[in-house]
Amino acid sequence: MNTLIKHGTLVTASETFESDILIEDEKIIRIGLNLEADSAQVIDASGKLILPGGVDPHVHLDLPMFDTVSSDDHYTGHKAAAFGGTTTVMDFVVLEDKGFQHSVNLWMKKAEKAAIDYSFHMNLTQFSEKLAKEIPSLMDMGIQTLKVFTAYNGRLRLADGDIFKAMQVAKDSGMLVMAHCENGDVIETLVQQALADGHTDPIWHAWTRPNWGAVDATLRVAGMAADADSSVYIVHMNTGGEVDMLKYARERGVKVMGETCPQYLFFTEDVLSRDDGAKWICSPPLRTEMDNARLWQGLRDGTLQTIGTDHCPFFLDGTQPIIYENMEISIPGKELGKYNFTKIPNGLPGIQDRMPIMWTYGVKTGNITANQFVAYTSTNPAKIFGLYPRKGALIPGADADIVIWDPEKVLKYGTAYSHQRTDYNLYEGWELAGYPEKVFLRGKLIVDGEQWLGKSGNGQFLKRSEGEVL
Ligand code: URP
Ligand code: ZN
Ligand code: ZN
Repeated sequence: MNTLIKHGTLVTASETFESDILIEDEKIIRIGLNLEADSAQVIDASGKLILPGGVDPHVHLDLPMFDTVSSDDHYTGHKAAAFGGTTTVMDFVVLEDKGFQHSVNLWMKKAEKAAIDYSFHMNLTQFSEKLAKEIPSLMDMGIQTLKVFTAYNGRLRLADGDIFKAMQVAKDSGMLVMAHCENGDVIETLVQQALADGHTDPIWHAWTRPNWGAVDATLRVAGMAADADSSVYIVHMNTGGEVDMLKYARERGVKVMGETCPQYLFFTEDVLSRDDGAKWICSPPLRTEMDNARLWQGLRDGTLQTIGTDHCPFFLDGTQPIIYENMEISIPGKELGKYNFTKIPNGLPGIQDRMPIMWTYGVKTGNITANQFVAYTSTNPAKIFGLYPRKGALIPGADADIVIWDPEKVLKYGTAYSHQRTDYNLYEGWELAGYPEKVFLRGKLIVDGEQWLGKSGNGQFLKRSEGEVL
């Protein structure tokens, strides 16, 4: 079936212009004024914006953590993403002892219920010469990215030398290393000291993961990438100092790119001292207003390249049962750490919130332009992660992942709108001006206002190839 969207205003990463857009089956086939197509269903988009579907480069669905699992799976999380205008997500595969193929197979199984398109990054949380030799095989599986950690000692962290070797292998194989930057040794020391002194409240999560650790790890990782002549992508950048390091390294020609997430732009660690402080626990933690401001500046001046979500939701009160597929289930949540901040599962919801929140509080406030919004939430992640121009583009030949965005829609946001499977929303009560009206995935209408038309199993695994360095 052909669909002709008429009289809309297309917003891409570089331009804004009036145009019609013709979709045939799964693809965009024509862009231009006064398009006609016999037998196409015609949608009048007068007064509306047409955006490429969002690409979220950083989500954690169905992720085991501590004694629970992140509360959105590959169906509920995808559905929530779609309602927020996102049509592609990238999730992280947990590396099991049985190796890459086995680990990817497990994640493929989890993702069989996918409702939007998706791909995977591999968490490189073990290292050996044997495993290093197998890294290039990930490219055959369509996985072009390895995430390494400079924190979580004894669990996820790799030694610097192993990170460096991974970068060398990645460079030779057209792959990209993504880095979680904090100082694991400082964190372990401060956590032990805090617990020994009897500090168990959520605010200690932030106080034991200090800002300077993120700054020093960012510079160290950028330096290693320079020495390996490889590219590197710093995930969830949260401090002003990290942006300074990113700028410093980029100005010297290092192929380093940076992602931030909305939570680091809008909140500070002060919320952790509230009675409901546990619900704001994520790693790295929220920082200060100065950090918020520096991150915004990094988006304005292009030091940063993407806005992901690090969507990793948990219930605030996971003891309450929920109904899922006609069954009553409960998914333990933040209450697991009621008496000890180190036991609170780390992560925040945001997969649906990202685009609506960034539109009203980024574009409408004049912090970033509409074109930057598209670049950071769609086009740049598609380019960096080897999906462009299939994704992130409004051009003939691209997948018809399209959002008809109503820039006039006013609403009070929060759990009433959010399909994220958790009992709270970070932006509860925030006034929004602008919201997705219709969302198409490869030409199929999957969200129509408040109506869900998507289906479990309709999301496709996207094999990725070498991406661009932006
Ligand atoms: O708190 C967070 N961000 N949890 C997800 C894991 C990670 O390091 O991104
Ligand atoms: Zn991380
Ligand atoms: Zn993450």
